[in-house]
Amino acid sequence: MNDKTLSVSAIKEGSVIDHITARRALNIISLLKLADNEMRVTVGLNLKSQSMGLKDLIKVENFFISPAHAAQIAIFASQATINVIENYKVIKKFQVQLPEAVHSILVCPNPHCITHSEPVRTVFTVEENNHCVILRCRFCEKLFSRDEIQEEQSGTVTR
Ligand code: CTP
Ligand code: ZN
Repeated sequence: MNDKTLSVSAIKEGSVIDHITARRALNIISLLKLADNEMRVTVGLNLKSQSMGLKDLIKVENFFISPAHAAQIAIFASQATINVIENYKVIKKFQVQLPEAVHSILVCPNPHCITHSEPVRTVFTVEENNHCVILRCRFCEKLFSRDEIQEEQSGTVTR
């Protein structure tokens, strides 16, 4: 086997989420609920990538990623690429784009934030600085790097 051998086999129809930040694929599977039904999903973790060092990759057969899904993916992996596959060919390739705000998905790390004591949905506004995602809590107005913030189970994103 040489380095050019595919780590996972090609799919006929569906989506390939490529260039996922290493170790983020399982978060994305949970976020999009890809494991909740009988969809055929192939996952590659810590695959070699020239541009990223290591990357994760997800292939989902007969499933197409909506713009809202792509925005949610960007919160976990801002460099991810979505490939749309039809009849074994890549017919479309696009970069995910960060949403302007994230509702409910993330938990505010500030223990004094009102989101921990009142029944409100969290809202963070999103900024990107040199591939680093920075989020500002709309309630306590504190700034956090993406890595400081933990995820909730489910939520929605607005663009
Ligand atoms: N792929 C797949 N099934 C196909 C066609 C492509 O699973 N029938 C996968 C490839 O394995 C690759 C991704 O979709 O992970 C994108 O395919 P392609 O554009 O051919 O690969 P690259 O040129 O390496 O992509 P990039 O330039 O985005 O790195
Ligand atoms: Zn807060």
